[in-house]
Amino acid sequence: MRVAVLASGGGTNLQALIDALGAAPTAPARISRVISNRPDAGALERARRAGIPTTVLRDPQNPAELLAAIGDAQLVVLAGYLKLVPGAVVARFRQRMVNIHPALLPDFGGPGMYGRRVHEAVLASRATESGATVHYVDEHYDRGPIVAQRRVPVRPDDTADTLAQRVLAAEHALLPEVLLSLAQRIQRETIDESG
Ligand code: GRF
Repeated sequence: MRVAVLASGGGTNLQALIDALGAAPTAPARISRVISNRPDAGALERARRAGIPTTVLRDPQNPAELLAAIGDAQLVVLAGYLKLVPGAVVARFRQRMVNIHPALLPDFGGPGMYGRRVHEAVLASRATESGATVHYVDEHYDRGPIVAQRRVPVRPDDTADTLAQRVLAAEHALLPEVLLSLAQRIQRETIDESG
């Protein structure tokens, strides 16, 4: 199962995937390419260190360019990717493209809700828990069907940073788990389709 990962930032979620999948040739999934909209994304450096091919998009809104970069990957993971995915690419990867978001969607999601703004909004809401969500990507930010969530407590003395740290640890556990189960589902579907 070949997986393409899109990332705009430091790439700790990508690193969690790299570590979880390991280099075993028998692993049910392997990362075939890491794609970014930013040439200086730390995620690209992590990919290079792991020997994974990388691509920097000239125009993230260009569906043809993005599809060419995804290549023959059967699954796409958005791991801290801040651009909207062009509709033609979403359609091509319906139920085969996931995003991870640092809150319990459908709350605290949508345009502009990323990074510490998410955690500040959670603290301001007086919510007693937060967490990570993996969802299928559709044409809107953070709106596709939810695949899985992992909850964490919000503590009374939390700051945006302490909450972010706790949620990020949950993300690093959730994303590899979801990826492996999705890879097995798609593998089974592919076998069924081939008859
Ligand atoms: C994570 O909080 C993820 O939920 C959000 O962007 C952040 C990416 O962090 N989509 P990293 O680049 O994986 O460290």
